[in-house]
This record gives sequence, C-alpha cells and structure tokens, in this order.
Amino acid sequence: MITAICPGSYDPVTYGHLDIIGRASAVFDNVIVGVVNMPVRKDRTLFSAEDRVGFIEAEVAELGNVQVKPFDTLLVDFARENGATAIVKGLRAISDFEYEFEMNQLNRKMAPDIESIYLMAAPQFSFLSSSGIKELAMFGGDIGGLVPDRVATRLEEELKR
Ligand code: PNS
Repeated sequence: MITAICPGSYDPVTYGHLDIIGRASAVFDNVIVGVVNMPVRKDRTLFSAEDRVGFIEAEVAELGNVQVKPFDTLLVDFARENGATAIVKGLRAISDFEYEFEMNQLNRKMAPDIESIYLMAAPQFSFLSSSGIKELAMFGGDIGGLVPDRVATRLEEELKR
C-alpha cells in the first residue's frame, strides 16, 4: 500500500491542483493532501488553513482514497508521520522547475527514502496559479471554470472586504 502526499499552500485550490490530486489518487493507494498551515510564513495566505482544507475536502469527497490534512512541520516529517513514501507535485512550466528542483534536493537530503514524483499539468491548466486567480478576482476578471464555484464565491466576498 503506497501513500503519497500532495503538498501545497492551496490558497485557494484551483482546478489545476484538483487535476493533479485526482490523477495521484488513480495511481497511489492512498493520497493525503497536505495543506501548509504556517501563519509565520512570509507570504500570508488569504484564506485560513481551515477554509483551504474545507474547499479541497468538498471537491475530493467522491474520491475514496483521498484525505486532506493541515500541517505545520517539515514536509518530510509530515510524510513520515502519515506513512507516506512519495511526495507528488504538479509541474506547469520551466519556471516551476527551478523552485521544485531546490525543494527536491532539500527534501531528498533530509529523507532519501521519500521519493518526489512530478506530474505534468494538463495543457488546459498549465497557466493556472492561485496567485493569478487572486489577481483576476481582485480586478473583477472571470474566474469561472478555473476554481470550484464555492471558492469563486468566497473569493468575491473576501476581496470585497
Ligand atoms: O509552493 P507551495 O504550495 O507554497 O509549497 C509548499 C511546500 C510545502 C510543498 C514546499 O514549500 C516544500 O516542498 N517545502 C519543503 C520544505 C518544508 O518542509 N517546508 C515546511 C512547510 S510547512
């Protein structure tokens, strides 16, 4: 039984993230979506960890082998605590590679027994990012079809405040 972690800030989750989570759930026995809960991180999140977990839970409810959990430790420690031997991440463009390469080396140094695996973003989501979504929403752009409806509604409410 192989458990994989799909980690991220998910602020908020997009259909690009959900595509990666769904594909991981088809390949691994169990998938745990790890939602970073670090209020001290330099880039403060728009949504609380509780909200970010809730948005994802609502979308993965029908996938029988996916759980969503917040974490505030090293990713590799979170993986170990959950018996995971793989970390799964999505790669969109070459620009993602540099950051992911660095994270990969750090995580590998700390936990050589946990393998990081990268899934290429589906073409229709290769331009999609949480920060892009927040910027579109802030300037009144149409985010329909890019994030789940409940996320779009909450984004509108949050950005009005
Ligand atoms: O790009 P994201 O979504 O903010 O990625 C978050 C995460 C945890 C996947 C990335 O920062 C990572 O791989 N970090 C490894 C180092 C680590 O464990 N940091 C602690 C995060 S709580």
